[in-house]
Formats: sequence, C-alpha cells, structure tokens
Amino acid sequence: MEVIIQPTDETAAAFVATIVAHDLRANPHLVLGLATGKTMERVYRCLVRMHKEEKLDFSLCSTFNLDEYVGLSPSDPHSYRHYMDHHLFRHVNVDLRNTHLPNGLADDLEKECTRYEALIQRFGGIDLQLLGIGKAGHIGFNEPLSALRSRTRVKALTPTTLKQNAPSFGGEERVPRRAITMGVGTILESRRCLLLATGESKAEVIAKAVEGPITSMISATTLQLHPRCTVIVDESAAGQLKEKDYYRWIFANEPEWEEYR
Ligand code: F6R
Repeated sequence: MEVIIQPTDETAAAFVATIVAHDLRANPHLVLGLATGKTMERVYRCLVRMHKEEKLDFSLCSTFNLDEYVGLSPSDPHSYRHYMDHHLFRHVNVDLRNTHLPNGLADDLEKECTRYEALIQRFGGIDLQLLGIGKAGHIGFNEPLSALRSRTRVKALTPTTLKQNAPSFGGEERVPRRAITMGVGTILESRRCLLLATGESKAEVIAKAVEGPITSMISATTLQLHPRCTVIVDESAAGQLKEKDYYRWIFANEPEWEEYR
C-alpha cells in the first residue's frame, strides 16, 4: 500500500483523475472499476474536463461499477446508474453498451450477482478500481463483517451507511435497505486499486484502514493485502495518520511517482 497526501480535496481528486488518464492512454481498452458518492464527483469532473480539453478518449474502455441499490430503476435519480450518467457517462465518449452496473431490479438477485461476477471475468477482470470509503470503513457496500473472500452479493446497509447516504435521499427512511455490491474478494482481484478519501470526517477511518490491523469489521483494511493499492488523501483526511512523514518521503523518492510530483 502507498499513501499519497495532497494539499486539498481538489488536488487529491485531480491526482486520481491523472492516474486514470495515464492508465487509459496506456491502454485504451482499460477495464475501469467505478465508485459513486460525493468524493468521486470531483474525480469525474476532472475526467470530463480532460475529455473536453485534452481529448481523453473513453471510446474503447469498459466500466464496472461497484454497487447499485436494490429496488431502484436505472432512471431513478437516486440510482447509481443515474449518478454515473449524470456525473460521467453522458459527458464523455464512453460506449454505453460497455458500461456495467448490477441490476438492482432483477427478479432473482442471487442470479444477478453471479451474472455480474461472470461478466467481470468475461472482460478479463478489472484493471483499475476506484474506491471511496464509508465512515464505517466500507469499500463498495462491504459493510462490517463482510467476508474477506466475498463475491458480488446483496448486502443490508448498516445504520451508519443509511445515515451517511440520507442527505441525497432527503431522509434516512428513504434510503433503500439493501444493495448489490462487488465483494471484498472481487475488489482484491482487480489489478490496481485507488482509494480516495477527503475531509476530516474520513480521518479516523483512514488511519484505521492504513495503519490498523486487518479486520472484516473494516473492509478497507483488506486493501493492505492488495499488491498494488494507492490511497490518496487530502491533508484533512490524513489528519490522524501517524506515519505521514514516511509516506511523504516515499512519494518524494519513489521513481514511479516522478511524473506526478
Ligand atoms: C459507492 C461506494 C461507497 C462510497 C463511500 C464513500 O459506490 O462504493 O463505498 O465510495 O460510501 O461515499 P462518499 O464519497 O459519499 O463519502
């Protein structure tokens, strides 16, 4: 795991977008894993700008989102399909046929989860997975006690997550109780992971995820097992990390990061 501390939420998001753009230019057929949420909105704004101003080309890439609410149709303004259309897909030249999210309306949800896993495999697996982190440490909707080897499945959302997502639904009671999410095992199989966290409200959970022991109580800690995971934080989200000087030293000295400094 590597930790990169950026001065602000804007520069942290821009950093993530720059890595995505770099990987996409290196491999136009990139299979990109996507996340939703407030934190990612800035990343998608940067990618849209790069598409418009720097001709970043999405035409050959494929995307797989981490999760979708159970019971919401793609046209529902609260669905993650709608979020992706609104923040990214409709502003860039991605082929919509190559954009994938779990179907939260499927009659047989278990079958839908199996289908989604198989589809990821059919596309050769995820090359680059974007991740946010919930206040309780979830990645995707892998709530506390998610098995370290879990695959795509239906999860009940915890009270912390319901509270976190309530503002966009106009009240906690309106947030769907369940979601389909890629599993921890699915996420760990992606070739590269980028976790972005910004703001003071994420400082405690980031410190646990990066410097704490691996535990299924905090799914993000399992990223310590991933061979190529980069955590990008702004100064506020880095606030409770103990080894900040070490992370800065690595970033300043590691040749891989030369073009990003
Ligand atoms: C959503 C997802 C979640 C969010 C996380 C952070 O697709 O994967 O894990 O990334 O809940 O959400 P925000 O950015 O709204 O704090």
